[in-house]
Amino acid sequence: MPKVRFLKERLEVDVPDGTTILQAAVKAGAPEGDRCGGVCACSTCHVYVVKGFDDTSEIEDEEFDILDKAFDVRMESRLGCQAKIHGDVDVVISDESFQAFLDEHPDDAEKARAQRAAVLQGEREMAEDCRSLARFTLNGIPPMPAGMARLEVRFSVDADGLLDVSASEQTTGIEQHVEVKPSYGLSDEEVERMLLDAYEHAEHDMTARALREQRVEAQRILDATAQALERDAALLEEGERETIEAAMEAVHAAAAGDDHRVVQSRIEDLDRIGKPFAGRRMDRSIQQALSGQKLGDVERETAGATGIEPHLGPGEES
Ligand code: FES
Repeated sequence: MPKVRFLKERLEVDVPDGTTILQAAVKAGAPEGDRCGGVCACSTCHVYVVKGFDDTSEIEDEEFDILDKAFDVRMESRLGCQAKIHGDVDVVISDESFQAFLDEHPDDAEKARAQRAAVLQGEREMAEDCRSLARFTLNGIPPMPAGMARLEVRFSVDADGLLDVSASEQTTGIEQHVEVKPSYGLSDEEVERMLLDAYEHAEHDMTARALREQRVEAQRILDATAQALERDAALLEEGERETIEAAMEAVHAAAAGDDHRVVQSRIEDLDRIGKPFAGRRMDRSIQQALSGQKLGDVERETAGATGIEPHLGPGEES
């Protein structure tokens, strides 16, 4: 029986020949999204088959079309619901798919209260081009919206040359550290080679990094906007949902491309188009926060603050 390993989750499962990666994920309990139910109409089951790609079924046109809209598509990308397994494979679930899984399974999102940290050595912009020294996990972070966790990482080298890396989450103070004992050092030639590599690839690396960062930002803003549309649909004006959703689609399409400036520009468009809706949500939140307080109390609390006047509606004095 073919063996499927989900590398990030360290899960593995034996499945009959012809099983899809998504079915294997369900069997193994691996967090893979499947928003359309496996009918090849979304990209939430996007995975990377990092080993054994040739032991999966051929990619049909339909799958190519959907993959075209996915985030961070690579040579080893597949849709988990379409890729059938015919031999041992190693799979990495994409960030897009993992996030979709958490959105669909709020209970598991509650449990996903950890951040993984990787310690790398090198001069290149992308992690995969650097040398991995260690990995560790920061556990116990309370649930918070995606992108809100703030990590501070500190490095110190002691007299024996041992590297101590500590990471703390700023809002909670949760801290974890790891001591790195490199199994081998670097010769002068290797250091020189690393510097030359970084110099030679500087332009490509900077562009790749900017694209990766904009894709992360695109995913964050798409998730936040989708949540806002769902929670505060009553605050939308006529036709506003359609306009915002069109701008979201434009962000999604740009993020599937490879020009970080286009992604940034579409994000700015979505931000501008969604501003009136965001303003209404903000006004409503302020009114809710103020309800039950006397105007005099509010004036005392906000003395010296600007920008609150337009948000005060009738009836704050009680
Ligand atoms: S679950 Fe939607 S395409 Fe695979």
